[in-house]
Amino acid sequence: MALLEVRELSKAFGGVMAVQEVSFEVEPGIVYSVIGPNGAGKTTLFNLITGIYTPSSGEIRLDGQPIAGQAPHRLAQKGMARTFQNLQICMNMTARENVMVGAHLGLDRNLLKGMLRWPALRRADMALREKAAELMAYVGLEAFVDSRADAMPYGALKRLEVARALAAQPRILFLDEPAAGLNPKETSEIDVLVKKIADGGVTVVLVEHDMKMVMNISDRILVLDYGKKLTEGTAREVRRNPDVIAAYLGKAA
Ligand SMILES: Nc1ncnc2c1ncn2[C@@H]1O[C@H](COP(=O)(O)OP(=O)(O)O)[C@@H](O)[C@H]1O
Ligand SMILES: [Mg+2]
Repeated sequence: MALLEVRELSKAFGGVMAVQEVSFEVEPGIVYSVIGPNGAGKTTLFNLITGIYTPSSGEIRLDGQPIAGQAPHRLAQKGMARTFQNLQICMNMTARENVMVGAHLGLDRNLLKGMLRWPALRRADMALREKAAELMAYVGLEAFVDSRADAMPYGALKRLEVARALAAQPRILFLDEPAAGLNPKETSEIDVLVKKIADGGVTVVLVEHDMKMVMNISDRILVLDYGKKLTEGTAREVRRNPDVIAAYLGKAA
C-alpha cells in the first residue's frame, strides 16, 4: 500500500486554482520530487498535505487513512514533518533549541507546560538536548549546536530546518526547496543529506528547482504546471517528456 495517496486534490484561492485535481501516490522509502515553474502549486500542495490549508476538494490518505483537513500537530503525531521554503527558524533561540522545538511539535502545548514541572520530564528534557545535538551532527552542524540562529550563515539555517523536522521522528518528510539560495557545493551537500535521510528509512517528498539534484536523487518525479499534473514518472521518463521540456525545462534553458 502507498504511504501517501493524493486523489483529485484541489485548492482555490478566490478565482485562482492553485492546485487542480492532482492525484499521485508515494510508496514508502522513496525520494519523490515535485517540480514545476514558479507558481505551479508546489508549496500549496505541501500546505494541503501537511495540514496548513484545507483542500477545496479531493482526498489525502496516509497509510490508507483519510487525513485531509487535520491540524499540523495531529499529522506530526502520525509521522509527517516538513521544512519551509521561507525559513521558519526562531532567530533569537539557539540552533539546539530550535531542534528541540521540532521534537515537541506533535505534543499539545498545554500538556507540555504541565509536564515540564515533573523531574522525570526534566530528565527527558536533558535526553532531548542530547538528541538535538546528535541530529545537528547528523546534518553536519556539530559546530553550531549552541550558536544563536541569527549568528548562523544561511546555508547552515537550511540544514537546521532539516534537523528540526527530523527531531519529530517522521516517517515522511516534506522538504520545500532545501537547496534554494545555496551555492553548488552546499547544494551537493544537501543532495547527500537527502540521500542519507532516505537510506535511513524516511520517505522524502521534495520540492526543488535544482534540476541536477532532482534528476540525481529522485525515484519518481511529479511535474506540476498551472496547478495541474502535467506528468509523473522516473527522472528518465520525465526528462524525455515533450510537455515537460516545453513547460519547464524549456523555460529554464
Ligand atoms: N495563500 C494564498 N493566497 C492566495 N493565493 C495563493 C496563496 N498561496 C499560493 N497562492 C497562489 O497559488 C499559486 C501557486 O502558488 P505556490 O503553491 O506558492 O507555487 P510554487 O510553490 O509552485 O511556486 C500562485 O498563483 C500563487 O500566487
Ligand atoms: Mg513554492
